[in-house]
Amino acid sequence: MATLFDKLKIGNIELTNRMIMAPMTRSRATDEGIQSDSAAEYYAQRTSAGLIITEAVNISPMAKGYVRTPGIFNEEQIVAWRKVADAVHARGGTIFMQFFHTGRIALPDFLPDNAQPVAPSAVKAKGQNYTDAGMKDFVTPREITKEEIKQTVKDFGAAAKNAISAGFDGVELHSASGYIVHQFLSSNANLRTDEYGGSIENRTRFLFEVLDAMTSEVGAERVGVKFSPRMPFNDIEERDAEEVYPFILEKLNDKNLAYVHVADHAGEGWHARLRPIYKGVYFAGASFTKESGEQLLAQGDADAIVYGVKFLANPDLPERFKRGANLNEPDKATFYSPGEKGYTDYPTLGHAAAK
Ligand SMILES: Cc1cc2nc3c(=O)[nH]c(=O)nc-3n(C[C@H](O)[C@H](O)[C@H](O)COP(=O)(O)O)c2cc1C
Repeated sequence: MATLFDKLKIGNIELTNRMIMAPMTRSRATDEGIQSDSAAEYYAQRTSAGLIITEAVNISPMAKGYVRTPGIFNEEQIVAWRKVADAVHARGGTIFMQFFHTGRIALPDFLPDNAQPVAPSAVKAKGQNYTDAGMKDFVTPREITKEEIKQTVKDFGAAAKNAISAGFDGVELHSASGYIVHQFLSSNANLRTDEYGGSIENRTRFLFEVLDAMTSEVGAERVGVKFSPRMPFNDIEERDAEEVYPFILEKLNDKNLAYVHVADHAGEGWHARLRPIYKGVYFAGASFTKESGEQLLAQGDADAIVYGVKFLANPDLPERFKRGANLNEPDKATFYSPGEKGYTDYPTLGHAAAK
C-alpha cells in the first residue's frame, strides 16, 4: 500500500515522494515573459516536493493570456529558466515545466500588435479577464486555420525542446482549465466541421498531435499531461465528458508518457472512474488534504497526489505533513501580484521567514 512518502518512478526518474506541487501561475515574470531570479528562489524553496510542476508557460507570443506570465520561445527566456532548473537541482529537486496556449482566453492586450486571439472556433467565452488596466470582457476569437494549427503543434514541440535545453527534467501539457487544448475537446468552444471538430476522435486530434510533437522532441518518458474533466472555468462545456476522457486515457495507454495528471475540481469521482482505465502513472489533484490524499493512495486510485495552494503557502509541506504540523494560510491577495510578498516569504517550520 503506497503512502505519500514512498518513492515513485516516472519515466526514467525516481521521485523521492508522492507529493507533487501543482502548476500555479504566479505572474511574476517581466512583460517580455522573462522569469525573475526570485522565481528560482520560490521553486527552490519547494524542492521537498517529489516533483514540482511549474506555472503554465507560454509556448509562443500568441499563447499569452495573462499578465506577467513567462514564455519559453526565445533565448532570453530559456536563459532565465535555466536559473530555475539549476536552483531546484542544486537542492536535489525534480522539476517539469507546464505549457499552455490560452486560445480564446487571451486578450488583444497581451498579444503582438494587439492581435485578435485564435481558437478552435469564433466563439467568445462568457466572462472577463484581468489586466493591469482592470477587468476586461473576453473577445470573440478568430477561427484558427489549419496552417496555424500545424504551426501551433510545432510550437509545443519546440517549447519542449527548449525546456529540456534549459535543464528541466520534463514537460507537462496543460489540457485543462479552458485553454486551447481543452477548447478543442469541449462541446461549446469547438464548433468546427473539419477533422478537428465534431466526433470525439476529431476533437481529441489536436491533443494527440501536440503530445506527439512534444514526445518526438524530448521522448515520451519526459512528457506528462493534465486534464480537468468537466471543469466549467473559462466557460467550457463538456456535454460528453463521460465518453471523452475514457477515450483519451485508453488511447494514452499506448503512448508511455511519464504520467497523466487529473484535477477533479468538482469532486465528481473522476479518479475512481479514470484510474482503472489508465495503466501508467496517475496523479490525482484538486482539494486534497493529507488524509484524503493518503486515502486515495491507499485505495489504489492514484500513484501520487498533487497539492496546489498548500504548496504555495507551505514551502516545506512534506515536512509539515510528516510532523502533523499546522499549515500556513494562503494569502489570495498576493497569488498574482508582482514582488516577493506572498511569493518567497512564506515561513518554514521553526523559521520566521524562508530565506
Ligand atoms: C494561484 C493559482 C494558479 C494556478 N495556475 C495554474 C496553472 O498555471 N496551470 C494549471 O494547470 N493549474 C493552475 N492552477 C490550478 C492548480 O494546479 C490546482 O489544480 C488547483 O489549485 C486545485 O488544487 P488545490 O486544491 O490543491 O490547490 C492554479 C491554482 C492557483 C491557486
